[in-house]
Amino acid sequence: MVEEKAVREALEGIGIIGTKRTIGQLNLIRDIVISEEGIKIYLANTGLAPMMEEITKNTVQKTIEEMDGAGKVTVEYTGVKAQELNEVKNIIAVMSGKGGVGKSLVSGLVAIALKRAGYDVGILDADITGPSIPKMFGVSLSPTGNESGIMPVMSKTGIGMMSINLILPDEGEAVIWRGPLIANAIKQFGNDVLWGKLDYLIIDLPPGTADAPLTVMQSFPITGVIIVYTPQDLVDMIVRKALSMATKLEKKVLGVVENMSYLYVPEIDKKIEIFGKSRGEQMAKTANAPLLGQIPIDPEMAKLCDAGSIEDYEGEIITSLSEKLLEVLK
Ligand SMILES: Nc1ncnc2c1ncn2[C@@H]1O[C@H](COP(=O)(O)OP(=O)(O)O)[C@@H](O)[C@H]1O
Ligand SMILES: [Mg+2]
Repeated sequence: MVEEKAVREALEGIGIIGTKRTIGQLNLIRDIVISEEGIKIYLANTGLAPMMEEITKNTVQKTIEEMDGAGKVTVEYTGVKAQELNEVKNIIAVMSGKGGVGKSLVSGLVAIALKRAGYDVGILDADITGPSIPKMFGVSLSPTGNESGIMPVMSKTGIGMMSINLILPDEGEAVIWRGPLIANAIKQFGNDVLWGKLDYLIIDLPPGTADAPLTVMQSFPITGVIIVYTPQDLVDMIVRKALSMATKLEKKVLGVVENMSYLYVPEIDKKIEIFGKSRGEQMAKTANAPLLGQIPIDPEMAKLCDAGSIEDYEGEIITSLSEKLLEVLK
């Protein structure tokens, strides 16, 4: 007879079509029963469209039956809520005092940085006020699912994402939604999206320090927040507000990121601080948290965002972001 451990390992490695993830990563194994008659495998079918169920069942049967001494293999699906299957180790919320400072961009870069460092990462887009996360990553497919859960849509490099913009028929429609409606939808994402096993979930919060980001932060067990600002911001005021909000919610500030910090001009090999002098040190001190990065104004990056190819960005900021962040999270 085969060992349960071997069956489990084989099962965990089987990919689910259309999700870029495996049974193990999605945490779908419920039970494995080995007896004289054969092997009975119980899987959660959370978020699986009927065709995915069918294909997965066949693949599982075939793979396990090929194991020595397996005997007859049967697969049975059980309905389990996404919430019960999710095992997210860290949730990082990205926050800014106002819109347009590059909060969504930083959320995206942080996710890319952690993914490149070898972690399993997802992004929850809770900022529907501006050019959204899916657009930056070139993701436009509607999420699939069933009554027990919906699957995040995967980016090219395998970052799972969920956004109201992926669910509404007309892009941009979410912007006219009213605050409470949005907050409820985001909260529901926490219960219904099958993230599975994730090392990091990045939440792109709505901008500002009003009710919207607050509600979102209260709906998730957040590990800590990253505060994004630009040199032209009324830095002190905005960051103090963001800080007091984080403190009130008893959330740790993991660090600050300065965006549009400078423009590098290769012809003269100089960094020009267009939006005013960098406040990196000052900000870090005010926040009592490290400066995680200073992102230059980079036309190439803006182009990649517009083209939905942000994952192709090669700037060194990505490596330094993950190094500093992982140091804080240690
Ligand atoms: N450092 C940067 N270099 C070039 N373009 C940037 C930079 N930061 C942001 N942008 C551009 O500015 C716009 C606003 O950024 P976004 O991240 O959507 O802001 P927010 O989410 O804070 O409203 C986007 O179109 C983005 O491409
Ligand atoms: Mg945004």
